[in-house]
Amino acid sequence: MASFSFPITTTASVLLLLSLTSSVFNNLAAKHSHSSPIKATTNQRLKKAYIALQAWKHVIYSDPNNMTANWVGPSVCNYTGIYCAPFPNDTNVQAVAGIDLNHADIAGFLPDELGLLNDLALLHLNSNRFCGILPLSLSNLTLLYELDLSNNRFVGPFPSVVLSLPSLSYLDLRFNEFEGPLPPQLFSKDLDAIFVNNNRFTSMIPSNLGSSSASVVVFANNYFGGCLPPSIANFANTLEELLLVNTSLSGCLPPEVGFLYKLKVLDVSSNKLAGPIPYSIAGLAHLELLNLAHNMFSGIVPEGICVLPKLSNFTFSYNYFCEEQGICSNLTSKGTLYDDRRNCLPEKPLQRSKKECDAVAEHPIDCLAFHCGT
Ligand SMILES: *[C@@H]1O[C@H](CO)[C@@H](O)[C@H](O)[C@H]1NC(C)=O
Ligand SMILES: *[C@@H]1O[C@H](CO)[C@@H](O)[C@H](O)[C@H]1NC(C)=O
Ligand SMILES: *[C@@H]1O[C@H](CO)[C@@H](O)[C@H](O)[C@H]1NC(C)=O
Ligand SMILES: *[C@@H]1O[C@H](CO)[C@@H](O)[C@H](O)[C@H]1NC(C)=O
Ligand SMILES: *[C@@H]1O[C@H](CO)[C@@H](O)[C@H](O)[C@H]1NC(C)=O
Ligand SMILES: *[C@@H]1O[C@H](CO)[C@@H](O)[C@H](O)[C@H]1NC(C)=O
Ligand SMILES: *[C@@H]1O[C@H](CO)[C@@H](O)[C@H](O)[C@H]1NC(C)=O
Repeated sequence: MASFSFPITTTASVLLLLSLTSSVFNNLAAKHSHSSPIKATTNQRLKKAYIALQAWKHVIYSDPNNMTANWVGPSVCNYTGIYCAPFPNDTNVQAVAGIDLNHADIAGFLPDELGLLNDLALLHLNSNRFCGILPLSLSNLTLLYELDLSNNRFVGPFPSVVLSLPSLSYLDLRFNEFEGPLPPQLFSKDLDAIFVNNNRFTSMIPSNLGSSSASVVVFANNYFGGCLPPSIANFANTLEELLLVNTSLSGCLPPEVGFLYKLKVLDVSSNKLAGPIPYSIAGLAHLELLNLAHNMFSGIVPEGICVLPKLSNFTFSYNYFCEEQGICSNLTSKGTLYDDRRNCLPEKPLQRSKKECDAVAEHPIDCLAFHCGT
């Protein structure tokens, strides 16, 4: 799978985080200008943060890098990993706007008291050993804009509390042990990036996907099963990267993927997808990477896709294609990387055996006959 990191999450230098935090903070304050005027003093905001952080420290059972060793006393803005910024309406008032404990290797829980961090805009806990479930009190974090819980040991069903966060834009839950279905509401929230890959999600990608505003959606390495719902077209106005690698998808790829006109990356490799490549993909003028490898696609590789102007890497190895139209048979000549090994291409080396190919050719795929497990 190609790895696409979202610029904001790359563990930023402290300076970057701080400037980002205060700008996010300011934008959000502008968005939330309908809320009641802040009369609280510095003490009250930071005092609540102090209660929250002490409660958190109390349920941290391993901190090999001593990140929380200086979480002592009321000056929470001096704690490692805690970033304060002036509260927009009153620049004399400091508030805890960001927490960055990325790569701290801390083991522990998230306590209910985190709901006292009302001013938090960024919470980055990537690569720790936090476990258990997310406290419902997180619904109190009405300014939270980025939530990165990736690479921890969170368990249980999809943490619905994130659906109640009005300012959330970036949600990263990848590399945890969440299980069960994804709620359809996840895809009607105003999120820019959704990472749910490498969990234990099951029960199919919701077919009643609402209109989403996400530009990046990574479903990879889960056990969804079923078909890719045609409602994927509801992402059309924003989606640029769709990664469905190894999600146990079956059936045919719906022609609606061709409606995702902003798509730059489409990776459906390592599934059980069958039938033809939808010709609508030839309309994806911005497509740069197309990976269809390790499926059961058959039929022809249409020239309309091979001539896409931005296409730089087209992998369709390990399928049952029997013909490459026109330039598709030598994409190197137009500077596109391609891989056509292990298909049924009579003129090409490193193909499947005649026996394997015949077995598939004898059972033509009827895309309408799939019931997709619904
Ligand atoms: C900020 O100040 C504006 C105008 O002074 C006020 O209307 C608004 O409620 C305040 N916002 C917050 C979050 O306190
Ligand atoms: C953390 O603190 C303990 C006790 O003071 C010390 O033994 C250990 O070396 C420290 N670890 C790091 C990574 O600084
Ligand atoms: C917090 O850090 C600042 C800057 O390093 C320092 O001036 C201040 O004394 C510290 N406050 C406390 C209470 O440690
Ligand atoms: C939510 O925030 C309010 C206001 O700061 C606070 O009084 C309340 O205790 C918080 N709730 C939880 C569950 O932390
Ligand atoms: C594919 O996804 C499953 C979960 O559905 C996971 O157990 C497996 O490790 C993944 N395979 C690879 C190569 O990542
Ligand atoms: C081309 O795409 C394949 C499959 O996504 C990937 O494994 C390979 O690294 C890519 N090649 C380059 C040079 O990006
Ligand atoms: C593909 O085209 C390139 C450049 O036009 C040529 O050098 C190469 O031999 C061709 N490869 C095949 C497999 O036809």
